[in-house]
Amino acid sequence: MDKLVIEGGRKLEGSVTISGAKNACLPILAAALLSDERSVIKNIPNLRDMATMLKILKNFGVRVAQDGSTVTVEPHGYKKYIAPYDLVSTMRASVCVLGPLLAKQRRAQVSFPGGCIIGPRPIDLHIKGLKALGADIKVERGYILADGKKMRGGNVYLGGHFGSSVLATANTMMAATLINGTTVIESAACEPEVVDLTNFLIKMGARIKGVATHTLVIEGVKKLHGAEHSVIPDRIEAGTYILAAAVTRGDITLKNAIPEHMVALIDKLSEAGLDIKTAPGGKGLRARWMRKLRPMDITTLPYPGFPTDMQAQFMSLMAVTDGISVITEKIYPERFIHISELNRMGSDILLEGASAIVKGVKNLSGAPVMASDLRASAALVLAGLVAKGRTDVQRIYHLDRGYEKIEEKLRKLGANVWREKEK
Ligand code: EPZ
Repeated sequence: MDKLVIEGGRKLEGSVTISGAKNACLPILAAALLSDERSVIKNIPNLRDMATMLKILKNFGVRVAQDGSTVTVEPHGYKKYIAPYDLVSTMRASVCVLGPLLAKQRRAQVSFPGGCIIGPRPIDLHIKGLKALGADIKVERGYILADGKKMRGGNVYLGGHFGSSVLATANTMMAATLINGTTVIESAACEPEVVDLTNFLIKMGARIKGVATHTLVIEGVKKLHGAEHSVIPDRIEAGTYILAAAVTRGDITLKNAIPEHMVALIDKLSEAGLDIKTAPGGKGLRARWMRKLRPMDITTLPYPGFPTDMQAQFMSLMAVTDGISVITEKIYPERFIHISELNRMGSDILLEGASAIVKGVKNLSGAPVMASDLRASAALVLAGLVAKGRTDVQRIYHLDRGYEKIEEKLRKLGANVWREKEK
């Protein structure tokens, strides 16, 4: 296993290119299963989760070819419909093959994804959406067994206890594209990744109205064709580099980030005192530390609210920002595993229910820390960049799931960081 070693204390400066969005690529690759024709998907990041998704597609008998960041998917004539436990258990997002398989093959068996370190991850809304379209669904022997012979359009409200669901919206929308009749999804998620998927489906010939709103209307068609698509840049990776500028008092230009996808984060950081502007030339963003930042309270919410996938990284910044901030998690109330590791580095953070009370300290000190999930790992990297001395972020296979070439990109910005084998 690898670890990331960081000698903290350097200001990060320069420019960085943001990779394609992991959470857009995964459902888009699954959507290619809706057609018999070839799809070409560009701007795919080289990440462990992508490799898992390609393995899943190959497992169905689909031909897949990768040339740099371009993936060609040739589903022609694939007949398999089982996503087995050994693949699904390594990546929860594999559940997004359920909708496409059901629509295309009229049956699907997908291993039940189970919980994960960030808390319970139910799939009741996925099942509700597909049942509303007439699918017969049972859970047996750890598998979701779905029969789609009687599927037709239907109306469904997909709002859950914690708001809308990204992948339940994706699954229901993908299934609805290929079945008879009209489907209306109310309380649909409208994260930029869902919008990117919708745009890809429309390129494939799907008839979808209400793109980027909470009400999607899908008119089923008989057939979808292959399509070519370039995936949007990753707003969470971009946000993490903005925070790297803030935490190291640096100046980073994000070459191709889309500011409209990061309104909540930009708003909070600007209010805190970070200088964030459209990059020279009108494309991308420049984040520049100019003055001491102020503490900020945040609450995570579905898009366009503050993203849960930025909560841990934001906490690292608040940990070294003078004053008190309150960080409340409304999507995954248990997503706070990073607190104990940050406190090992000298932060002063107390957990009260689903809120973290962060008292900013002057300095963090480097320490060996253990990454527990993808975004928590990114938070520890940010803490390591500002800490005094050496930080060893262990188990960075989590980071490799979501941050392409992280040490290369950070080094280019001036960080003293390298990868080592864990002993
Ligand atoms: C997506 O997960 C992302 N993953 C997550 O990214 C992200 O944290 C999450 O959306 C929220 O933005 C991918 O896109 C691959 P949800 P998803 O269904 O779709 C509850 C990362 O680090 N819920 O939108 O699985 C759920 O428990 C990650 O890249 C139900 O109650 O999340 C949560 O409280 C991890 N029933 C809320 O909805 C359901 O059937 C939102 O989850 C489904 C979800």
